[in-house]
Amino acid sequence: MVKVDKFIPKAIERIRSSIEGPAIIALSGGVDSAVCAVLAHRAIGDMLTPIYIDTGLMRKGETKRIQEIFGDMGLVTIDAKERFFAALVGLTDPEEKRKAIGKAFINVFEEEARELKAEYLIQGTIYPDRIESEGGIKSHHNVGGLPSVVDFKAIVEPIDDLYKDEVREVARALDLPHEISERMPFPGPGLAVRIIGEVTPEKVEVVRAANAIVEEEILEKYKPWQTLAALLALGTGVKGDVRVHGWIVAIRAVESRDGMTSNPVNIPFDDLVRIGSRITAEIPSVARVVYDITPKPPATIEFE
Ligand code: XMP
Repeated sequence: MVKVDKFIPKAIERIRSSIEGPAIIALSGGVDSAVCAVLAHRAIGDMLTPIYIDTGLMRKGETKRIQEIFGDMGLVTIDAKERFFAALVGLTDPEEKRKAIGKAFINVFEEEARELKAEYLIQGTIYPDRIESEGGIKSHHNVGGLPSVVDFKAIVEPIDDLYKDEVREVARALDLPHEISERMPFPGPGLAVRIIGEVTPEKVEVVRAANAIVEEEILEKYKPWQTLAALLALGTGVKGDVRVHGWIVAIRAVESRDGMTSNPVNIPFDDLVRIGSRITAEIPSVARVVYDITPKPPATIEFE
């Protein structure tokens, strides 16, 4: 385990000595980029511009919270929702969706980097990211990943030797809010990997509302490694005595050590029924709710 007291001043010193001009970092709301932003801000102050790209695929309230937490570090928010939705039109293949999001992200980020005349890029790459990208299991979109066109003088990765639990430890020591230091994993491509098939703004609204309910009901009570809701397809439901189309939503809650394997959380049936009722009552376009009982493998944790 990294010695936090030693790591922090060393990391700050390393950033300070590697950066001599305007630097940027992409904030995702995740603990890795947040820790890097705070370290870099302590190291180089106003020479750092943290950038947050609102892809339209974030969870409920997330954009606002990021703005509140990082506002005093000169955060720049870019509203790129329309660009991301445009990039996703007609795409149904999971890998194509991931690639389109990654590409849109890099384009928006590079435009901003040029605008700011940034010379240095700070990235929240952690040790397991390096291993997973080398393994090539799936195209992993991590915020700030793969910048290509902009010619940075240097890319600085202050936490690339740390494991996730060490990053959390550093986050606590840096006094980042609990919701950041303990934040459960949320994929780079956001809610798009929780929608089977084409992503549309309407589907994102439904899955965002369902994720908020699932987190409210499951996170504190069962403390799973991860919990989420996914939008599967349109099915048939009934309103009054009329058959109607409505969305099928899946709830997932898993125990895991590192995300590589997982088991479903044993949630009591009464609780599941109550959560299902909440979802159909609060999101009228949902007709059916199911609970995913599959371990990983064979299923992944996310739906795509
Ligand atoms: P899967 O679905 O592969 O997910 O079982 C394992 C863990 O990784 C997260 N995940 C991602 N995280 N970029 C990320 O930063 C991604 O593209 C991505 N895809 C999946 C997922 O939330 C789970 O915790």
